[in-house]
Amino acid sequence: MTTKIKRIGVLTSGGDAPGMNAALRAVVRAAAYTSLECVAIYRGYQGLIENDVKLMNARSVNNIINKGGTILKSARCLEFRTPDGRKRAFENIKKNNIDALVVIGGDGSFTGAMIFQSEFGIPVIGIPGTIDNDIYGTTRTIGYDTALNTVIEAIDKIRDTAISHNRLFFVEVMGRDAGHIALNAGIGAGAEEILIPEEDMGLDRLLESLKHSEKSGKSSSIVVIAEGDKTGKNVFEIAQYVEKNMPYYEVRVSVLGHMQRGGSPSCYDRVLASRMGVFAVESLLEGQSNVMVGVSNDKMILTPLAKAIKGKSKIDKNLIRVSDILTV
Ligand code: F6P
Repeated sequence: MTTKIKRIGVLTSGGDAPGMNAALRAVVRAAAYTSLECVAIYRGYQGLIENDVKLMNARSVNNIINKGGTILKSARCLEFRTPDGRKRAFENIKKNNIDALVVIGGDGSFTGAMIFQSEFGIPVIGIPGTIDNDIYGTTRTIGYDTALNTVIEAIDKIRDTAISHNRLFFVEVMGRDAGHIALNAGIGAGAEEILIPEEDMGLDRLLESLKHSEKSGKSSSIVVIAEGDKTGKNVFEIAQYVEKNMPYYEVRVSVLGHMQRGGSPSCYDRVLASRMGVFAVESLLEGQSNVMVGVSNDKMILTPLAKAIKGKSKIDKNLIRVSDILTV
């Protein structure tokens, strides 16, 4: 498609993340600034299939930079995975004269965008919004920083009660298959041990380490477990195993769950989302398509969607060493 871009569509898709509203605001306002029209698509790809759209202007996104969630609402749309669903979606693209699409979401949303682009030729650009920080081509995704702050705040509170009762707490955090949240929030909250999918610690080493801590005078402890940890047991089974082998500890489990996705975005996420939204619109106008915007060494970069989806966002192994040193 070589049409001059006059009107863009924007949607949020997949798991919501704090800062998606700030990204939407940036896309809508960058479009207004560059004299483009902007159509908001509600409920992700589902809304595109059902033609749930609204023309936006710079004022439509007033007072949302500080809001968690996404005012556009989000969905994980199964219908868009079918050729028929995508055909219906494209009919609405044509009906609304949309020349290019901005997709704010995670890797599942980008896979959909890439297939859509290859089938119908419409230029697409991705903005990475997910608390998991699991996307290749950006050192930070929108929402991750806020989620880290939410997690450490929750663990700080758990610590208060853990100390009062001399308890050992296992705290499960989100992240899907990635350990970014667990590792960074674990260090930030001073966790005794951190279990992540990228590094198989094994139950015996965990037990050894906790016994060592207990001998060194610690009467309470926090262990952070990523939901995708591959120890082979879930957080409750791990807690039971430890309790059986360390009967002097009272063990409790806390699964933080979806509260990690909510809340007002941090300043970092607001600025990141603003930069990414502006860069996405500018990149589309420069003729870019099938790419994702990202940040690397504090500079905006572009990565082909195919690479962003397939590549692995690596954890910083040095952080594991830092955590080991600090829990001496
Ligand atoms: O991708 C974001 C995320 O919150 C993951 O951390 C988690 O595994 C998943 O989404 C939960 O999905 P749902 O909201 O569909 O339960």
